[in-house]
Amino acid sequence: IASLHALDESVPPPNRVQDRSTEVIDTAVEFANVPDTDPSTPGNRSWGRAIQERIATSDLGADLVHEHTITDAAVLEETISGAVAAGQEWGARSGVERAAILRQAAVELQRARDQLIEVMGAEAGKTIDQSDPEVSEAVDFANYYADLAEGLDSVEGASRSPYALTVVTPPWNFPVAIPAGSTLAALAAGSAVIIKPAPSAARCGSVMVDALWRAGVPREVLRLVHVAENDLGTKLVSDERVDQLILTGAYETAELFRSFRPELRLHAETSGKNAIIVTPSADLDLAVKDVVSSAFGHAGQKCSAASLVILVGSVATSRRFNQQLVDAVQSLTVGYPSDPNTQMGPLIEPASGKLLRALTTLDEGEEWVVQPRRLDDTGQLWSPGVKKGVKPGSTSHLTEFFGPVLSIMTAETLSEAIELQNAVEYGLTAGLHSLERDELSLWLDRVQAGNLYVNRHITGAIVRRQPFGGWKKSAVGPGTKAGGPNYLIGLTGWRPTVDLA
Ligand code: ALA
Repeated sequence: IASLHALDESVPPPNRVQDRSTEVIDTAVEFANVPDTDPSTPGNRSWGRAIQERIATSDLGADLVHEHTITDAAVLEETISGAVAAGQEWGARSGVERAAILRQAAVELQRARDQLIEVMGAEAGKTIDQSDPEVSEAVDFANYYADLAEGLDSVEGASRSPYALTVVTPPWNFPVAIPAGSTLAALAAGSAVIIKPAPSAARCGSVMVDALWRAGVPREVLRLVHVAENDLGTKLVSDERVDQLILTGAYETAELFRSFRPELRLHAETSGKNAIIVTPSADLDLAVKDVVSSAFGHAGQKCSAASLVILVGSVATSRRFNQQLVDAVQSLTVGYPSDPNTQMGPLIEPASGKLLRALTTLDEGEEWVVQPRRLDDTGQLWSPGVKKGVKPGSTSHLTEFFGPVLSIMTAETLSEAIELQNAVEYGLTAGLHSLERDELSLWLDRVQAGNLYVNRHITGAIVRRQPFGGWKKSAVGPGTKAGGPNYLIGLTGWRPTVDLA
């Protein structure tokens, strides 16, 4: 983590925080992010190898999934009504009391690091370099939201009023950090939680919730449900007793939830189509490294991933940049997370729809620089692809694919590049590689995205240092950023203090 922090410290300037709410409660003066595991020490190499061996045969969490699967409307009804009652009791506790349990949750999540990494590898195809930081992020969320919960008791002039029940519907691509973050935030804010993990990452969510129960979060307050996306699933997200819902998923899912119940308080972090701009002043070697890690980490299955790189002026024809990019992409070792050589893992499910088309089809003017190949019969293992000649307004420019395909676009000037970057409907992450201060100022003035990264990769936001959330169609709801100082405020209501004296 030392090197990770050193890298972040060197970012000129610090990432811009764009929380839209007006007040800031940040009591986290002592807060420190927990370190990831250093993979280079001999002891940690053996540790990693042992986990990789277990990943191949793991059935962690299977019992928890079975036990918490709901197929009966009466059981779901009992779950919702029980959670509302428990939420009222939980919200009446002080923030300090809730914070103490969250701090213990940080300890239990840390203790469960190996199991969580194992289940993320087995179920979600995550390699250890991707899953280990995810556990750190979950631990950070617990500690950070504990700090914020203590602050909730002492807001000047008013106190915050918890909502009784929050439903959490996390995604499969960060199957521990995001369910943990959303759940811990709602708990810290004084709400009971019903969490419905993504079906394709059900075991990951279950093992995470089990750690929170062990930490002392009452089972009545935190309820785990596995419910299919059928009538029961619809009932859960549209029930009138649900005060708010935290969703991380596709923009279309947020719209669907809104259509079920327009008045629902929805906090949704949704899709992205993110670009990194590289100007002629950039350190091109660094740019190649950051583009590749942003595009192909977890096989591109991140809302924050770079799926566009926009080359400005002479970079478009720079042999050095283009050849290094091809070499770097072609040298990625693709495989399963149980194999220690794997650098890019599988897709969570066989490629289909928009992603399959992107992996197999070129539109007018496009050309493969590195053509993706299907590597086995599962349809999940694909080598990474890079295409060039991508035209403004094309599918490759505007559509989120959520997989290992990078599109190269070109622009004469930085202004033109920013227009291409902003032309998408979303605005989640954005990157600039440039060593010119004027270019940086221009970009900062114009770019439309929630999380901005300069001269580094554009994924892997770190709790408190880089609160995470988007603009435009990347956010639905109040738009306060997860892992940032205003997030809990957004999950509570106002209770004005009346001075009766
Ligand atoms: N918070 C995740 C990231 O920054 C999505 O990559």
